[in-house]
Amino acid sequence: MLYRPFGSTGLTLSALGFGCGSIGGLMVRGAYPDMRKTVARAIELGVTYFDTASMYGVGQSEVNLGAVLRELGQETNADIIVGTKVRLKTDEMTHIERAITTSVEASLRRLGRESVDLIQYHNRIGPNRTAADPEANLDDLARIVQTFAKLQKAGKVRFWGITALGETDALHAAVEQGGFHSIQSAFNLLNPSAARPVAADFPYQNYDGLINRAAARGMGVIAIRVLAGGALSGASARHPVAAPSVNPIASAPTYETDVQQAHAFQFLIDEGVVENLVEAAIRFVISHEAVSTALVGTSNLEQLELAATYAGRGTLPEEVLGRL
Ligand SMILES: NC(=O)c1ccc[n+]([C@@H]2O[C@H](COP(=O)([O-])OP(=O)(O)OC[C@H]3O[C@@H](n4cnc5c(N)ncnc54)[C@H](OP(=O)(O)O)[C@@H]3O)[C@@H](O)[C@H]2O)c1
Repeated sequence: MLYRPFGSTGLTLSALGFGCGSIGGLMVRGAYPDMRKTVARAIELGVTYFDTASMYGVGQSEVNLGAVLRELGQETNADIIVGTKVRLKTDEMTHIERAITTSVEASLRRLGRESVDLIQYHNRIGPNRTAADPEANLDDLARIVQTFAKLQKAGKVRFWGITALGETDALHAAVEQGGFHSIQSAFNLLNPSAARPVAADFPYQNYDGLINRAAARGMGVIAIRVLAGGALSGASARHPVAAPSVNPIASAPTYETDVQQAHAFQFLIDEGVVENLVEAAIRFVISHEAVSTALVGTSNLEQLELAATYAGRGTLPEEVLGRL
């Protein structure tokens, strides 16, 4: 396993992170013994970052992760870093501090911990406030980070960050404004724009080097959607535990189109650079040194084993990255 500094927090994260979200689904819909076996194996393989959220399975992911880590005797292991998230509803944007504090306290109860290593603001960043998904603007963010700092003083969180999804300009302004330790950024072979330059006619959202800007400001970077929700495997079939349908983030309008696009990287297999597209996708993301950890959502132990094997093969050769 490769390890990377997590920005300027002083923490070190495994280059492969363990996603506990609903898409891979293991920590939400899996059988408990499978969760325990897979988390235990992940720790054995050197994975140190586990990413959950209050909304994954409406809290069930936090409950399961907390229970498994306790059962494995890992809840006090300082090397195991747990991150969770808080998502605010529109009516909560008028009392941000109270809403965040209530949510974090509920997350801690579900996780069965007194504090969490990383709390992340989950909503998109931008000017739009729809009933379904209120985006946070810069003023909101200032209040949000103040609240996280208070929670740190109260011993409930160690570090805090944001999910860097939303409008590109607003995201860059948020990173410039700062006040937080990390970002979660969508970065994969289909949309590498958060870390690498793309053509002017690039068809998807252009994040315009957001990861690089965040890293330059000392922020840790957690890459999300490394496998484009599974589409970068090149196969449409979903694992029974996985979410049956996936809404692409910053790639093609449909999952099916993402699956088709994934085959553009077949040449890496034909040339013997990688064994399969999943390996290509994981190694592409960890090849960017500003990425602290590449989260992969898994449905079972086998997917985790494979992801760790591929991550263990390290970065892709510079010449290959240039062509990609
Ligand atoms: N902050 C945010 O807003 C945000 C958003 C998205 C994700 N995240 C975080 O990032 C984590 C990962 O993201 P994600 O689950 O959305 O997407 P992802 O990691 O890009 O894709 C997960 C899917 O990849 C496939 N897969 C995984 N390992 C595989 C393997 N070895 N071989 C073949 N296919 C494999 C599985 O699909 P099949 O079932 O089809 O095999 C799985 O459902 C989440 O759990 C969460 O912690 C955060």
